[in-house]
Amino acid sequence: MSKKVNSLKILKSINSTKKYLKKLDKPIVFIPTMGALHNGHLSLIEIGKKLDVHTIVSIFINPIQFNDKKDLEKYPRTLIRDIEKLKALKVDTLFAPNIKNIFDKNFQTNVSVKNLQKNLCGLNRPGHFDGMATIVLKLFNILKPDYAIFGKKDFQQLEIIKRMCLDLNLNIKIIEGKIIREKNGLAMSSRNSLLTKNNLLLAPKIYEGLKLVKRDFTDCNQVNSQLVIKKLNDFYINNGLKRIDYIEIVDKKTLEKVRKIKKGDTIAVAVKLGKIRLIDNLQF
Ligand code: PAF
Repeated sequence: MSKKVNSLKILKSINSTKKYLKKLDKPIVFIPTMGALHNGHLSLIEIGKKLDVHTIVSIFINPIQFNDKKDLEKYPRTLIRDIEKLKALKVDTLFAPNIKNIFDKNFQTNVSVKNLQKNLCGLNRPGHFDGMATIVLKLFNILKPDYAIFGKKDFQQLEIIKRMCLDLNLNIKIIEGKIIREKNGLAMSSRNSLLTKNNLLLAPKIYEGLKLVKRDFTDCNQVNSQLVIKKLNDFYINNGLKRIDYIEIVDKKTLEKVRKIKKGDTIAVAVKLGKIRLIDNLQF
């Protein structure tokens, strides 16, 4: 089953996708998404377009990476608007499979990148990264891309994907896209659209705090990480961000907590506002 809308080819089934891809004579760049496309996604697509290869975007809300059923239910679904955005950016192909197509009823395999998920969101969202790595590997196997693009907002996800590609000898070049922010500094995320008016006003404080500690500890070499974490924690509490899942400073490759900060380490946070959990990060 496939449809061509203007120049955007929309593919839904794995079989038609495989047939279609066989006929392509260009390398493929792949941008996986769960839809509700915002400027962060669009910036990844723009990186892909510059490569002048065949651009494939996927939209699939992957149930096995949601550890919270309610989070899955309320995840924004905006397919019609997403398609318009993809057409405007002249994306070649949209892969938008349905759930039955992707997971047959006896599905039982799991991809687990073990150490990189021990910390940060891995602690707070059990099973999330296994579900994410499993679907990304499945999508890679279906679409056989030469390049794939992931944003740095989900920097733990990005490191897990890079490790999976190395460990499983996947011949795919992973390209990193920088965090795209609203004018007020809030990192763009599909979940922002679910924030209440009040929480939308509070959310920019997440990045404001990150910038503040980075500025105050510019010469951060050998500073005790607990000092910085405490300063950011106090800033958040004083500014109405009271439900902090974590504030951690980690080595950007191993994602292990550091005691003394060195250049390149990443400060990463997850904060809950109402029912919505937002993440952000900044590198020292
Ligand atoms: O970052 C996301 O939107 C998802 O985790 C991904 C990579 C599309 C896998 O479902």
